[in-house]
Amino acid sequence: MAMIAHKCKDHTVTVVDINQARIDAWNSDTLPVYEPGLDEIVQGARGTNLFFSTDVDTAIREAEMIFLSVNTPTKTYGVGAGRAADLRYIEKCARKIAEVAEDDKIVVEKSTLPVRTAESVKRILESNSNGRQFQILSNPEFLAEGTAMADLEAPDRVLIGGDQTPEGKAAIQKLVDVYATWVPRERVLTTNLWSSELSKLTANAFLAQRISSINAISALCEATGANVDEVAHAIGTDSRIGPKFLKSSVGFGGSCFQKDILNLVYLCEHFGLPEVAAYWNSVIEMNDYQKHRFCRRVISSMFNTVSDKKIAVLGFAFKKDTNDTRESAAIYICKDLLEEQANIAIYDPKVEVAQIQRDLEIDADNKYVTYCESAMEATKDAHAILVLTEWDEFKALDYKKIYEQMQLPAFLFDGRNILDLEALAEIGFEASGIGKG
Ligand code: UDX
Repeated sequence: MAMIAHKCKDHTVTVVDINQARIDAWNSDTLPVYEPGLDEIVQGARGTNLFFSTDVDTAIREAEMIFLSVNTPTKTYGVGAGRAADLRYIEKCARKIAEVAEDDKIVVEKSTLPVRTAESVKRILESNSNGRQFQILSNPEFLAEGTAMADLEAPDRVLIGGDQTPEGKAAIQKLVDVYATWVPRERVLTTNLWSSELSKLTANAFLAQRISSINAISALCEATGANVDEVAHAIGTDSRIGPKFLKSSVGFGGSCFQKDILNLVYLCEHFGLPEVAAYWNSVIEMNDYQKHRFCRRVISSMFNTVSDKKIAVLGFAFKKDTNDTRESAAIYICKDLLEEQANIAIYDPKVEVAQIQRDLEIDADNKYVTYCESAMEATKDAHAILVLTEWDEFKALDYKKIYEQMQLPAFLFDGRNILDLEALAEIGFEASGIGKG
């Protein structure tokens, strides 16, 4: 929304939320989300044509177009628990719009939703319409965290789905016009509603599948002496495969991949397609395998015990340049290590201590976990280093100095394949990466 406000000076964008603390943060100098470049964009437009408010009713009444951007977490209760998307927030939004709106509205689904959700939103709005016309559009977001501003500024494509009726097409055109202010028109794709909804789930499933595929090969590389980075490079030069999303890692995380695939799996089962469901579910199974496999390798390399040993964990975010830890591989690995009674010292440049404690489900005084201000501090007297996020600063550390303050033999497990293992071995480290035999 900040990018729309930044690019379309003649539109007014009002972001509303029922959470006062969040809105206060959006109105302050410290935004509630860390994202490179976001501060400048928000500061440039805030108070001019970008507003943050808790006055939901007024914003609905005054808007011509309403974006539903509430979260749709995996359901934790009842039918579909653990897989289906929880749509209660979406439904509440639809009911609120039906209650408050005084004239026609275009309602845009921005949240990632199961296919045919628009149908439910439409039914709620239409059964309470009292003569008002509601058009529902689907406009999934493809930005990735850490590069969100660049992704928004120059997207590969913008996808807009809507009814193929004259009214539906007119609504689609209104949203096309917004994006066409800065996105080349040929990059704005329009489809029917269901295709748009399904494309988002499919895009994330394909991206995650590539990572699981290369991670599966990484296990074979370790067994055979091949190098997964070399294999990824070799196959990535095939223009049909392409080089992106082939970086083997300790496992993918983030708020989208797992949630969206689980949702896709649930949809397939719902529509009587168990083989298709099992196919996509294996992408998640491979990711779980990769996380636990990494931890097992750490333990077996360290003489089959990490109990009472100090393990330095470098990086807790699910990827670099974000403070987001949702589904981060680091959470699973730290939990496995805690079960083995290791002492872990965590350093991440952006993630807050309270967040780590919530993720690991531990109290502030847990004696097995310490929180460090630097990589130097975390690695002091450590038996091993685990690199779990690919922060740039980890590439530039003085590993010679680090080695000198560690217990010997000094193990280093690069879960992101960002370090020069040969140079580390020369210093004296027992260094290993992912998928390097
Ligand atoms: C993803 C999609 O890329 C984006 O289009 C969608 O809108 C939201 O979900 P995001 O979760 O922000 O974006 O990050 P992404 O860059 O896709 O990375 C997801 C995870 O995969 C991270 O944990 C990352 O480290 C991992 N990853 C990514 C790999 O392990 N290897 C790769 O080659 C790429």
